[in-house]
Amino acid sequence: MLRERSRYNDRMDDGDRPASTDRLFATAERHLVDFAFDEAVAAAFPDMIRRSVPGYETVVPLTGLIAAKHLRPGGRCYDLGCSLGATAHAVLAAIGQRPCEITAVDDSAAMLHRARQLAGTEPRLQWRRADIRELAFESADVVILNYTLQFLPPEDRLPLLRRLRDCLNDGGVLLLSEKLDEHGYFADLHLDFKRANGYSELEIAGKRTALENVMRTDAEETHLARLRTAGFPAPRVWFRCLNWASFVASPESQPTAERVQRP
Ligand SMILES: C[S@@+](CC[C@H](N)C(=O)[O-])C[C@H]1O[C@@H](n2cnc3c(N)ncnc32)[C@H](O)[C@@H]1O
Repeated sequence: MLRERSRYNDRMDDGDRPASTDRLFATAERHLVDFAFDEAVAAAFPDMIRRSVPGYETVVPLTGLIAAKHLRPGGRCYDLGCSLGATAHAVLAAIGQRPCEITAVDDSAAMLHRARQLAGTEPRLQWRRADIRELAFESADVVILNYTLQFLPPEDRLPLLRRLRDCLNDGGVLLLSEKLDEHGYFADLHLDFKRANGYSELEIAGKRTALENVMRTDAEETHLARLRTAGFPAPRVWFRCLNWASFVASPESQPTAERVQRP
């Protein structure tokens, strides 16, 4: 599957609509305002997330692979906080021609505008502009929340997870990725990761200030405890890179091993 490239990757690589390099925090203007998923961020987003989130380029295709295990023919998958739809495209790459409905949701008009441009025509993929806290969810086999929960006010996180638990079919899964609230060794290495990817001290400090009020992270144990409270009895970490983690949570005590038969 990891050899199977998505249309999203192809368009990112072939210069069809080249993404710009992230220089957003290279000057002081953006340091003074809270971070927002506006047009400038949407234009630089693939570069920004790749250089800022350790493991992103592994998490996206593997999220597709895990989703493919649970998404039954004709089933529904939500990609919540989809940004440009990288993960939705990874699901499509992983399931081949299997019929399904992927609903990719974001509340940023700029992100969705660009996502639609990148996507081309794919009848199984629908884009929706909505606040995920207000969306009425239909029954689903897979719900993906990659790097999105951390942008919700902390008090809204458990109610959303409870509603997601309620919409999941038997054998379905929630896939969650987040930055973790950690200080010390891994947090320091994360800064080194950004420096190694070409961000200056000014850019790192500027982005940190801009994100301070809008991205509030939780510790790994807080995530696991909240998932249990929301009705996922045995959530597990399936990937960890420095102070970033990905969780899989199922309404059952274990995700069903072979839910979808291979052709
Ligand atoms: C870090 S990005 C997610 C990255 C994306 N999932 C990926 O893996 O490429 C967070 C996204 O969540 C969206 N978002 C934040 N709060 C939201 C909300 N309440 N409802 C819908 N989308 C939201 C933002 O607009 C942004 O596009």
